[in-house]
Amino acid sequence: GVEERRALAELAAGVAREAGELAADGQEGIGVLATKSTPTDVVTAMDRSSEELIRKRLLSARPGDAVLGEEGGEEAGAGGAGRVRWIVDPIDGTVNYLYGREEWAVSIAAEVEGRVVAGAVAVPRRGQVYTAVLGGGSFLDGRPLQAPEAPSLDFALIATGFGYDPRRRAWQAEVLRTVLPRVRDIRRNGSAAVDLCSLARGQADGYYERGLNQWDWAAGALVAQEAGVLVGGLRGAPANPDLTIAAGPGLFEELHGLLEPLAADTDGPAAED
Ligand code: IPD
Repeated sequence: GVEERRALAELAAGVAREAGELAADGQEGIGVLATKSTPTDVVTAMDRSSEELIRKRLLSARPGDAVLGEEGGEEAGAGGAGRVRWIVDPIDGTVNYLYGREEWAVSIAAEVEGRVVAGAVAVPRRGQVYTAVLGGGSFLDGRPLQAPEAPSLDFALIATGFGYDPRRRAWQAEVLRTVLPRVRDIRRNGSAAVDLCSLARGQADGYYERGLNQWDWAAGALVAQEAGVLVGGLRGAPANPDLTIAAGPGLFEELHGLLEPLAADTDGPAAED
C-alpha cells in the first residue's frame, strides 16, 4: 500500500542524502583535476564509494532486497530473493561533478514487480531532496509538487541530454537541428535525474533523451509523473534506452510527433554509457 511505499521513499531519501554528502565532500578540490590525464578515475572512485555506501545502507535496512547499481551491476541481498529491487545511480551528472558544478544528483528508486513505486533524487550541492511515491505524490523537501500546465511546443523550454557515445552524438545533433528552431529554447543541464525533477516544478516544460540507462531515469521519472507529467517512450512504450520523453499532456504529444520520424534513424542498440 501507499504507506509501505512512503516508507521506501523515506529510506531512499535518507540514504541518498547521506551518500550525497559523502560525494559533495569528495567534490571539493576535484575541479583542478578536470584538465589532467585521468580525471575520470577520480570520479569513478567516488562513484564506487558512494554506491558501496548506498548498498550497505539499503541492505542493512532491508536484507532481502536486490540492488542494481551503475557501478556494481546487480547484487541480490543476503536474505535471498527480495520483493524490492533498488535502482541506484550514485552520481548522475558525472561531468558536472568533475567540473565542480552543482547539477548532479544521487538517484535511488524502489521497483516492485517491474514497477517503480518510490524514489528519491538528492541534489546535494543545492541541499535539496526530491521524493515520490506511486499514487502518493511527489515532493521537494517534503513540500508537494504539481507541474504547471504545459505550453505549446513553440513556447516550451525543452531539456535534453546527449550521452557519451559518439555515434549517438551525431544523431543528437541531427535531432537538435529539427527541434531547436521549433521551441522556446533548449537546456542541456547534465543530469537526467535533475532534468526530470525540474519538470515536476515547472523549471522546464519538456525533456527528451536517447540512450539513458534505467538508473538515470527511474527515480526522476516517478517524481515527474506524480506531479502530473507524462513520461514514456515512442508509441505508448514505457521510458526506455531508445527514447525517453517527458512533458505535460498536449506538449508530450507534440514532442512525440516531432521526434518519432527522427527516432527511426537509429544509431544501433543502446551502448553502455
Ligand atoms: C548522465 C547524465 C546526463 C545524460 C547522460 C547520462 P551519468 O548520467 O544523466 O545528463 O545526458 O545520458 O549518462 O553518466 O553522469 O550518471
